[in-house]
Amino acid sequence: MRCLSIKKCVDDRALNWQVWQRLIGALPEATPAQPLRIVEVGAGIGSMAERLLAGDVLTHATYTAIDMEPTLLAEARHRLPQWAVEQGFQVQENGPGQLHLWRAGQHVTVETEAIDVARFMAREHGRRVWDLLIGQGFLDLIDMPATLPALCSLVRPGGLLYFPITFDGATVFQPEDDAEFNGAIEACYHQMMDQRVRDGKPSGDSRAGRRLFAHLRAAGVDVLAAGSSDWVVFAGPNGYPADEAYFLHDIIHTIGTALTGYPNLDAERLRIWEAQRHAQVDRCALVYIAHQLDVLGRMPALTGERKSGNRVTRQPSI
Ligand SMILES: C[S@@+](CC[C@H](N)C(=O)[O-])C[C@H]1O[C@@H](n2cnc3c(N)ncnc32)[C@H](O)[C@@H]1O
Repeated sequence: MRCLSIKKCVDDRALNWQVWQRLIGALPEATPAQPLRIVEVGAGIGSMAERLLAGDVLTHATYTAIDMEPTLLAEARHRLPQWAVEQGFQVQENGPGQLHLWRAGQHVTVETEAIDVARFMAREHGRRVWDLLIGQGFLDLIDMPATLPALCSLVRPGGLLYFPITFDGATVFQPEDDAEFNGAIEACYHQMMDQRVRDGKPSGDSRAGRRLFAHLRAAGVDVLAAGSSDWVVFAGPNGYPADEAYFLHDIIHTIGTALTGYPNLDAERLRIWEAQRHAQVDRCALVYIAHQLDVLGRMPALTGERKSGNRVTRQPSI
């Protein structure tokens, strides 16, 4: 939870602003009668909802945030009202899991639900559609070829799909020290992501970012914009920004734990690697880079439809 909160600041530096601007420019006009319908899968503690609300991007919107971890969504419901009040919003809780936030020119309803994305997609298929689907730091954790078509079916024709911070095959630590062993750690860590299984199904891809282009094409989605959004965490003259040393300790610990007992990886050398990396954080000497991509796509519009503003409407019959 603390890590996802720090991650928001690291993401703010990393997000590809060219892709972001394209997203903002492509959003359809919203009105009180026709609010923008957004769904976010794997929403965590609600960082993306905050980012969209902060930028005055959302005027009238409903924001459906789902995640399989109830504790993360509970934190989102705790954080969001506090944050929103600081930003000048008025906040009202409309029922369990539903918040209404408003200030001059902005009315947004946020609903959260703890549910696995597969169950959510199965339940909503043919029932509801959204104008924008967001999955931030999410696609590298699931079986993308199997899941993406169902995610697309949640988006209306002409609607948008935004997948920022999608991991793409590079985990870099500096100083390099023992380059050969560092290379082995990176390779094993990525292999472990590729081989991860949840509920008997594949659930991970260490090269999700680059593979997303082909998966979107196969699902009939046009890519409107794409660019890199690498995390780069380093210490400046005043050390690491905010709480980012904790973030680095957590990443080293996660990798060390994940690779403990991994075949063909020397356990003693792994233990020493972990200790050295933690010590480098303490000395503000560690640089960490993770390569990621942001991708924005659009569902094809139905034939026989035309664009009004950016919202697709049916051609009037003559
Ligand atoms: C790396 S975190 C990113 C969280 C948030 N999007 C952010 O960027 O701060 C991935 C999130 O996806 C959620 N998640 C992973 N697999 C899921 C699934 N099958 N269904 C729903 N949520 C899932 C996790 O619980 C976690 O909150």
